[in-house]
Amino acid sequence: MNAEQGGGGSVPVVLLLHGPNLNLLGEREPEVYGRATLGDHVAAATAAAGAAGLALEHLQSNAEADLVAAIHGARGRCAAVVINPGALTHYAWSLHDALATFDGVKIELHLSNPNRREAWRHTSVVAPVVDASLVGLGADGYPMALDAVRRLLARRSTTP
Ligand code: DQA
Repeated sequence: MNAEQGGGGSVPVVLLLHGPNLNLLGEREPEVYGRATLGDHVAAATAAAGAAGLALEHLQSNAEADLVAAIHGARGRCAAVVINPGALTHYAWSLHDALATFDGVKIELHLSNPNRREAWRHTSVVAPVVDASLVGLGADGYPMALDAVRRLLARRSTTP
């Protein structure tokens, strides 16, 4: 475990990733996803990270390859990845495989609860390789995800 992964004195870095169409939050199906913009959520996550003693980096991309590359770049550098892959959740095995190469804490986050929506949303191909999935909590999911990262990192540092 290196310093960024929580073993040393520096601030652990959390990479927050958003997939396709989430740049349109606030305008896109507000009855499902709410009125808050992506910027609002990132600001809330940044504040929650600071309160938890963590630093936050963020990337949104509509391209699967960019998300894979960002996960690769987090290897050995970031303590955690929090990811809302958007619709890629349901079929992007490259994200499953990329996340499987990342040793830090991994949390899947969704604004809505995909399990109570259309049947095609009921499968998450990333769920088997993350520590936890938070769904259906809307904007509250961001501070909850950062708190979960803090708790899971603390658990790792105290578990022999
Ligand atoms: C989503 C759920 C996905 O099914 C959908 O394709 C999205 C958003 C969510 O945050 O609820 O783009 O990931």
